[in-house]
Amino acid sequence: MDLYEYQAKQLFGKHDLPITAGDVCETVEAAVAVSESIGAPVVVKAQVKTGGRGKAGGVKLAKDPAETREVAQAILGMDIKGHTVHKVLVAHAADIAEEYYVSILLDRANRAFLAMASVEGGVEIEEVAAHNPDALAKIRIDALEGLTPAKAREIAEAAKFDEAIQGQVANILTTLWEIMVREDATLVEVNPLVLTPTGEVIALDGKVTIDDNAAFRQLEHAEFVDQGIDPIEARAKSFDLNYVKLDGDVGIVGNGAGLVMSTLDVVAYAGEEFGGIKPANFLDIGGGASAEVMANGLDIVLNDPDVQAVFVNIFGGITSCDAVANGILQAIEQLGDQVTKPIVCRIDGNNAIEGRKILTDANHHLIELVDTMDAAARRVAELAASRKGAK
Ligand SMILES: Nc1ncnc2c1ncn2[C@@H]1O[C@H](COP(=O)(O)OP(=O)(O)OP(=O)(O)O)[C@@H](O)[C@H]1O
Ligand SMILES: [Mg+2]
Repeated sequence: MDLYEYQAKQLFGKHDLPITAGDVCETVEAAVAVSESIGAPVVVKAQVKTGGRGKAGGVKLAKDPAETREVAQAILGMDIKGHTVHKVLVAHAADIAEEYYVSILLDRANRAFLAMASVEGGVEIEEVAAHNPDALAKIRIDALEGLTPAKAREIAEAAKFDEAIQGQVANILTTLWEIMVREDATLVEVNPLVLTPTGEVIALDGKVTIDDNAAFRQLEHAEFVDQGIDPIEARAKSFDLNYVKLDGDVGIVGNGAGLVMSTLDVVAYAGEEFGGIKPANFLDIGGGASAEVMANGLDIVLNDPDVQAVFVNIFGGITSCDAVANGILQAIEQLGDQVTKPIVCRIDGNNAIEGRKILTDANHHLIELVDTMDAAARRVAELAASRKGAK
């Protein structure tokens, strides 16, 4: 789970990493109140889980509460790369002498962690890495050894921080490591970390990714989960389904993440011919999907108002195709009147012939059986397009 900046800063504060005072607000009035209580000048910052907020006009300085009102009004409700701004962080504006970059991330390929640091921060770090790679120090952190104070010092030196602040930077790196370990993070990034004219080093931005696999021992992190932003995603989560809402018209149900990913591709490809029909979701019901799980999956996609037609793409493995076919029929029976959209099924693999026979014999007016994945994708795109056109 990626955190919002204000949530990342809550964790920073908890571990005593230096940040500026501030609070998150959902209304213009609240933003003005925070600006009055912490004292101007402030920065008003869009809270969205995407980068480049500053460039998009989502980070603005306000010299007094009246200006806070103006910029909060402009930023709340704004769209940044498809993310609507529902919250802003109003933070005390720091005086900036220099902007730096520091991060620690899980380096899966090398079975280690990686610390990165640069005195050329503030800008997109990918640009620094591409155009001036020497300016970005990269140091491996052994997972068992961790980030020792000596290692932290080594990183600060390698990134060529001024000697006067190497100690502060090393402390910050040690704290970031503590956050990685104690909070079960896979990424902590500060861009910019700044030096103030009075010589303090503070974090002005924060990006943290939490490892969801550790949720069982990080009960406090539950409060970071977005509530009710997308009602369909919330419902899928309550069924324990691996679901992601997308921006299209064809509901997808498949078993196995790889199969579902390629299903998205073939549907998008086939859909080009029908005026840009696209998949409406990612939904992997898992290898051993029971009838109940199939019912939950169909329930989710059929109740998505964007969905015009559904593609059930199953490759029988652990669960054989006859079991899946029975699952589909049971699911449709359970859902009853909720089933009003065409469902194109492609089932292959273990016991495919028996599975297809079960569906054919059922002779349900909304179910269509298609033999191959490509043909099924084409058919479902066609059905979705014609229903969409009829609306
Ligand atoms: N509290 C602050 N005081 C003064 N200036 C700030 C403060 N917060 C941010 N800024 C300035 O705004 C710039 C952009 O802010 P920030 O890094 O938070 O957003 P961003 O980089 O545009 O967004 P993202 O990190 O999502 O890509 C910073 O580089 C800094 O110059
Ligand atoms: Mg930033």
